[in-house]
Amino acid sequence: MNPRPPRIDPVGDKNVVRSWVASSYADARAVLVNASARVPPNTRPSLETGGGAAHAIVERGAFLRDLWMWGCEVDRRPQRHKAGAAALGPKSIDALAAYLKGNAANLLADAKQAPEMDLVADFARPLVRDALMELLGIAPAARASLDTQVGGMAPFIPGGQSGSTAPYFALAAVAQAVENVWAKPLPPLAGASRALRGAVEAGELTLDEALAQATLLLFGNSYTTLDALAGLLSRCAEQPLLWRAARDGTCSVAELVEEGLRLGPPTHLALFRDAADDIQCPGGTIPAGTRIVLPLDRINRDPAAFDRPDSFEPGRSGPLHLAFGGGRHMCVGLHLARAVIRTGVETVLSRLPEWPADTRIVRQPGILGGPSVVSLTVPAGAFHPC
Ligand code: HEM
Repeated sequence: MNPRPPRIDPVGDKNVVRSWVASSYADARAVLVNASARVPPNTRPSLETGGGAAHAIVERGAFLRDLWMWGCEVDRRPQRHKAGAAALGPKSIDALAAYLKGNAANLLADAKQAPEMDLVADFARPLVRDALMELLGIAPAARASLDTQVGGMAPFIPGGQSGSTAPYFALAAVAQAVENVWAKPLPPLAGASRALRGAVEAGELTLDEALAQATLLLFGNSYTTLDALAGLLSRCAEQPLLWRAARDGTCSVAELVEEGLRLGPPTHLALFRDAADDIQCPGGTIPAGTRIVLPLDRINRDPAAFDRPDSFEPGRSGPLHLAFGGGRHMCVGLHLARAVIRTGVETVLSRLPEWPADTRIVRQPGILGGPSVVSLTVPAGAFHPC
């Protein structure tokens, strides 16, 4: 492992280490599993609300935002993380499998309705959205508008704060919508809502903590899985050998998905930690008080951990990528994300054994950093019958 010296903030006192970029796989793992590496706390900006009812709604949104993983009460974080992980645990996701498959097939069947299909807008986006909404018990008719409100929380990315009141309004409205759903009997597949409501009944979470977790799940779901699924489909459209390998069983869809997650998107994400104490890493000691930056894109391409790191090789040997992070804050949505991406790829593979030459891919800078596939258009005639 190549030891990397800490980066000294050139603006500050030369003797004070202000930030450390942990870009090697070994250092990143060491940081993520170290209890002294804390997620930087929330700092609430001052928000101009004009008072009255609007002020109360913004305050409500800001209060719930403080209960997300960046909230200051370090003691309550494990309970909140546990409840989020239980909400999206393997049991809920296994129970969703048939629904996911059916929804993916239905969404693709709609390809017949128009001369061409945008696999991002008409397939991947609703597939990702419906999966979590089904787990939360949100009625199909309410999903599109709730999704728009979830989109209103975008300025919170990447875990920062916003001086605008709009995302706080959106958060308060999303929490209210979930609370309304929880006030009634939950549909059979609403395992996530059942688990969160159960944590309140068991006294493990307050109602506000549970609602905040539900809004955090909706927020965490909104870009990541979509970026990963659309990114992987477009990569396969551009590399026919890859698609044929999956179709012919030379590599499994699960292997394709894992390599897609390693090379991203959405692994362009950078994570942040503050060192509460000295942290020992293979690359050196990170002194207490340092802000640590973990650039997942570089970590997942560390040549010391992955042979031919930039090459897309499904089924490669070596350590598991860190696209979902690691340690105490490891992504709670990973089972759901994997299930949705795999089902999405399998369904497209079964209906589209070859990508047509006139497939059109449009990329734009993504909200999580790196390029995001915003449209992937295929002539409807290219799809095989169901
Ligand atoms: C391909 C898809 C996804 C990727 C690559 C991804 C990535 C990540 C990463 C890297 C973290 C760790 C953040 C940190 O340590 O600072 C994280 C945390 C989290 N993710 Fe995901 N995520 C994905 C999908 C999802 C989904 C589908 C959900 C919810 C439905 C979700 C909800 C969360 C939550 C709530 C956390 C915070 C965990 C905690 O600290 O309590 N993610 N995700």
